[in-house]
Amino acid sequence: MVIKKPNEIKSSEITPENVYLNRRNFIRAGVLAGTTLATAGVYKFLNPPPPKEVKTAEINDIVKANQTDIISNEELTLFADITNYNNFYEFSTSKTAVARAAEDFVTRPWTVEVGGLVQKPQTFGIEDLLKFTQEERIYRLRCVEGWSMVIPWVGFPLKTLLNKVEPLGKAKFVAFQTLYDPKQMQSGLFAGIQFPYVEGLRFDEALHRLTILATGLYGKQLPNQNGAPIRLVVPWKYGFKSIKSIVKIILTDTPPPTTWNIAAPGEYGFYSNVNPNVDHPRWSQATERRIGEFGRRKTLMFNGYADEVAKLYEGMDLKKNF
Ligand code: MTE
Repeated sequence: MVIKKPNEIKSSEITPENVYLNRRNFIRAGVLAGTTLATAGVYKFLNPPPPKEVKTAEINDIVKANQTDIISNEELTLFADITNYNNFYEFSTSKTAVARAAEDFVTRPWTVEVGGLVQKPQTFGIEDLLKFTQEERIYRLRCVEGWSMVIPWVGFPLKTLLNKVEPLGKAKFVAFQTLYDPKQMQSGLFAGIQFPYVEGLRFDEALHRLTILATGLYGKQLPNQNGAPIRLVVPWKYGFKSIKSIVKIILTDTPPPTTWNIAAPGEYGFYSNVNPNVDHPRWSQATERRIGEFGRRKTLMFNGYADEVAKLYEGMDLKKNF
């Protein structure tokens, strides 16, 4: 993957969503026309049920991105796919049902408490957090059951927020927590995991420039199903580290609990770095399905971001620290 620096990229290089849509539709049409082997299954794969329309009230507000930072040359996943194939267990354990189940999720007013081992604990309103939003980044989000997407997130580095609260020297980890409101999040009792959803990073991982708090995607405010109004994105880790709808961020000196590790400690470790050489106990992690593509592609170490992040894990046994 090519990662360009801000000064190498012109905003004109970011292909608008409708152009991607047309290009992808053109490819889809070509594939269908060109093969007589298009079975019903393949047809269904290429033509999933019409996506649920995302409420315009939610996405009308453009998230201001005044600086373009990281861009990859990979084709973007369609907006419709990003917003209709989700994991958000508070709402539903069915990936295709989350969008509808989260439709009425109330995300205003919203605050994020930031505290723990810091000099200046603070509670930020979403309006403050939206003001920090300034960079558009394109990341591969690799999910746990072997699919991936390339998502043009809009957000800001987590580090920006952490600096505001002045972390103390003894802070070694960062703990995150999602809102849990059983009145709105109906799947809670049946999801099979504990709520509120919690996640954690080591402090140096949290400060890395690729670790962002996303407030939007495709230049629009984050749809509910993708973790409105603010979610974490850690692109070199499996998707479940990217915790959604965050209400609390606490700096600690001990490793914080993480939801999937609590649910199945033998299957999900604290680090959860994308690693094609370490299989999940129940499936290989060597390949992935890129949403919108045929077949599977090889999964890259650290999801293709090894140049940027491998140094964080120097000297560590990544089979033990999975
Ligand atoms: N955050 C919360 N609060 N609840 C969840 O169930 N699922 C995780 C992660 N963040 C999840 C969550 C998993 S397993 C994945 S793969 C990603 O969100 C999916 O993000 P997406 O739906 O935006 O693609």
